[in-house]
Amino acid sequence: MADGQRRLVAVSNRVGPLNDEGKAGGLAVGLSDALKRRGGLWFGWSGDTSEQGTFSEAQTEVQDSVSMTTIDMNQEELEGFYFGYANRSLWPLLHYRLDLAQFDRQSERVYRSVNQRFAARLAPLLDDDDIVWVHDYHFFFLGSELRQCGFEGRIGFFLHIPFCPPEIFTALPASHDIVRAMLAYDLVGFQTDTDRRNFLAFCIRELGGQKLSDNRIRVGDRVVTARVFPIGIDAPGYERFAVSPEAGEHEEMLRDIAGERLQIVGVDRMDYSKGLVERFRGFERLLEDYPENRGNVQFLQVAPLSRSELGAYVELRRELEELAGHINGRFATLDWTPIQIMTRGFTRRALAGIYRAARVCLVTPLRDGMNLVAKEFVAAQDPDDPGVLVLSRFAGARAELPDALIVNPYSTDDVASALQRALTMPFDERKRRWEGMREAVFAGTSEIWCDTFIEALENADASLPEDAPQ
Ligand code: ADP
Ligand code: F6P
Repeated sequence: MADGQRRLVAVSNRVGPLNDEGKAGGLAVGLSDALKRRGGLWFGWSGDTSEQGTFSEAQTEVQDSVSMTTIDMNQEELEGFYFGYANRSLWPLLHYRLDLAQFDRQSERVYRSVNQRFAARLAPLLDDDDIVWVHDYHFFFLGSELRQCGFEGRIGFFLHIPFCPPEIFTALPASHDIVRAMLAYDLVGFQTDTDRRNFLAFCIRELGGQKLSDNRIRVGDRVVTARVFPIGIDAPGYERFAVSPEAGEHEEMLRDIAGERLQIVGVDRMDYSKGLVERFRGFERLLEDYPENRGNVQFLQVAPLSRSELGAYVELRRELEELAGHINGRFATLDWTPIQIMTRGFTRRALAGIYRAARVCLVTPLRDGMNLVAKEFVAAQDPDDPGVLVLSRFAGARAELPDALIVNPYSTDDVASALQRALTMPFDERKRRWEGMREAVFAGTSEIWCDTFIEALENADASLPEDAPQ
């Protein structure tokens, strides 16, 4: 922490690691890049369960200038809070998947109590002039609970995932309570303007809010600032990863295996929001409609398992393995396997090497807050032979990366023809598109994301205008 700077206290469900260990999740990656530079306290869940749960003793690990303090959950909390409300109700709903969302009173109750207990455990660790930054859909109520505990300093909230339109969000029985709880923050941040507008529309239509300016909204006696802060990566650091010896080994290995074949990659947690089934079908359509690719391309999908205790994720894995088997069965030859899925984790350096070996990266989520993989792929490319990014129009990253080939991930034909265009793109066009994307990735790093959020939080004005009716 630099002299005169206020301490940053970040709160998120997942905490750390700060090193280059494999970790799948944009929040952990973006936040650890930002915290490593600024220092501060990172508070959240230990990732373990114990009988005492949120009453367990806090554990603190200090790395560089970051203290990571965590507490456990018990089995009931893990089930109701994490698997239940966060990932069976909020995650699908906020990703526009009302068809997959499940609502039950018990998990809502546990979610609220876990928010309350995390706030109660954090409050005694805070100083008045700390800046508290709460992250993601696990902790919508944490700010209002901290206020209940008497904390009067600045509290900001950033949503890493999409905020769906009010027509969908109102299906959640506690939707009004959640948005009212968001008003306890001084600043709420979103990945894209679409998310921010959906939030404001909810405040206006459902809670009778009034816009005070483009960024400020009043609901009753609360005034909150809602702004867009697209998360980024440590672009210079990632470029260095991509030329590290470990990256080089992975790049070489993949190039050796591919030989003359062009490599297509996808890197995503195995999650239904990532559009993997649709992507596999798009690849199959490529082989059907453009037969010159048979034997001449190979597709590696890295898909670490995520939330595998939940039925929707078990079903997704089954479906993907079946589809990959079907495609391989249909097209493979003795010396060629068209598609390969790997569920293991990689270090960040190793992943950078995999990206660098690829001619095409497929990032085709059905809905995604930002998608850091898209930015990592760009930063990892060899300037003398850059690859092509095929990017979903429904990824937050689309706003910053118009030089990617933008596709509708629901359209099998669209994915197949974009793939064909990427595989046959002349060098000059590849290079021009990549240069545009590289500029964008460097213009919006994790450092800029963190600094602009904190500056906006320090300056957020929560006062009612003087002429406001009471
Ligand atoms: P999400 O937050 O939904 O998982 P993002 O694309 O924003 O999606 O972030 C995913 C992060 O996880 C990226 O930084 C990516 O490099 C990392 N990641 C994905 N797969 C792996 C893996 N197999 N091993 C290590 N890290 C991974
Ligand atoms: O970046 C979105 C995000 O949902 C994070 O909030 C989360 O930590 C990550 O993806 C991975 O999910 P999980 O923490 O459930 O493994």
